[in-house]
Amino acid sequence: MTGASTDSPDPTGWFEAARFGLFVHFGLYSLAARHEWVRSRETMSQQAYDRYLNRFDPDLFDAPQLARTARESGMRYAVLTAKHHDGFCLFDSALSDYTSVRATGRDLVREFVDAMRAEGLRVGLYYSLLDWHHPDFTVDEHHPLRGTAAEQEPRNMARYRAYMEGQIRELLTAYGPIDLLFFDFTYPEKGPREWGAGQLLSLVKQLQPGILVNDRLGIPGDYVTPEQYQPDRPLERGGERVMWEACHTLNGSWGYDRDNHDYKDPALLVRMLVQSVACGGNLILNVGPTGRGALDPRARAALGAIGEWTRLHARSVHGAGPSAFEAPANALYTQVGRRLYLHLLAWPLRHLHLPGLAGRVRYAQLLHDGSEIRFQEMDGTRHEHNNLAPPNQPAGTLTLTLPIARPDVLLPVIELELDGQE
Ligand code: GLC
Repeated sequence: MTGASTDSPDPTGWFEAARFGLFVHFGLYSLAARHEWVRSRETMSQQAYDRYLNRFDPDLFDAPQLARTARESGMRYAVLTAKHHDGFCLFDSALSDYTSVRATGRDLVREFVDAMRAEGLRVGLYYSLLDWHHPDFTVDEHHPLRGTAAEQEPRNMARYRAYMEGQIRELLTAYGPIDLLFFDFTYPEKGPREWGAGQLLSLVKQLQPGILVNDRLGIPGDYVTPEQYQPDRPLERGGERVMWEACHTLNGSWGYDRDNHDYKDPALLVRMLVQSVACGGNLILNVGPTGRGALDPRARAALGAIGEWTRLHARSVHGAGPSAFEAPANALYTQVGRRLYLHLLAWPLRHLHLPGLAGRVRYAQLLHDGSEIRFQEMDGTRHEHNNLAPPNQPAGTLTLTLPIARPDVLLPVIELELDGQE
C-alpha cells in the first residue's frame, strides 16, 4: 500500500499527503497563562474574565513568522482557534462585540489565513461549539457559571444555533478558501441535536465544497480526531479505513501554560509523527502562543528540533502512508510507491534483519546523508564472515549492515528502494 500522492486529483488528497500540521490555540486565556479552560476551571464570572479582554494586546502575534516556522518544521497546514470555548472571536464578526477586532482593531484570522497561504500552507479554522459568553448557551456542567443563579435564566439554544450558523457563514465567505474546519466538541449533555449538526455540516459544504470537516459535531465527518493519544494501527469505521489526525500538545495544555514544564521530548514528537504516518494518519501539533502572541522559547526549541529532522527526512513523511510489509521489532515502516522507509526506534548492533525483503530491494541508504547501506540475503545458516552459528534467519530475510555509530538525528531512517514498477 502506498501513501496519497501530493498531486492527487482528489480535492481532499492534500490532507493525507500533508501528514503534519500546526495547531494554534490563542485567545484571552493566553493572558491567564494557566490553560485554555481557566475560566471554567476557576468558575470565573464574565466580569472577572474581562480583565484579560481589557489587557488583550497581541503585539507579538506575527502570523508571517508563525507560517515560516510551521513550514520550516515540516508542517503543511495550520489551524487557528477562530473561537474557543470562552466565546472570544479572533475574527471580524458582525454578530458579536466579543472579538479581537473590537478589542484591538486586528482580525487575527485574516492575518493568519493570509500568512499561511503566502507560505504555501493549507489553512484550517477551529470553531468551538461551546460558548461561555453567549447569553443563549445553556449553563451546563462545563460552563463557568454552573452552580450560580445563571442556571435558572431562560436560555435559547435555537438562537445560539442561528448565531453559530451566522458565524460559520462569516468565516467561510470572508476569508477565501478554507481547507479544513475543526469543530469542538460533543459531550453527553450536548450533541448533534443541540448543535443542529446536520444542517451546520450541509451549510459548511455548501459554502466551501472542497473543505474537510472533523467528527466532533457528533456525526461522522471527513476525518476522526484522536486527542492526546497515539493510535497504533490504521483506524476503521464499519470495516473501512478512515482518515484521521492525532492532535497533540507540547506540554498537555493547548493554551499557553507558563508554569507547566511537562514538555515532550522532540525525539518523542518525531516518533509520534512517524507512528501516525505508519498507521495511515496525520499529526497536528499544537502551540499556545504567549499572552502577547509570540511562541515561547520552549515551543520554538521543539519546533526547531523537529524542523532539523524533517529537513532531512521529509520524504518518509510527506505523501507517505502505511506499508503492507511488517516492520521488524523497534522499527516503523512508511511507504511511498517503491520507496520503503525504515525508521529505527532503537539502534541495533551492526545487522538488521528484514523479513520478507530478500530479492525485493535494489538499493538502500541512510536518508539523512544519502550514504549507501550494504545488504545481503542470508542463506539461513551462516552469518557474514562468521561461521560460528549466528541466529538463523528465515528464508526471504534481507540483512542490512549498519554503521556502529548511530547517526546523530532524532530518528534514523533507511530508505529502501524496492524492485518493481512504481
Ligand atoms: C479539547 C479541549 C479544548 C482543545 C481541544 C483540542 O476538546 O476542550 O480546549 O481546544 O481539545 O482538540
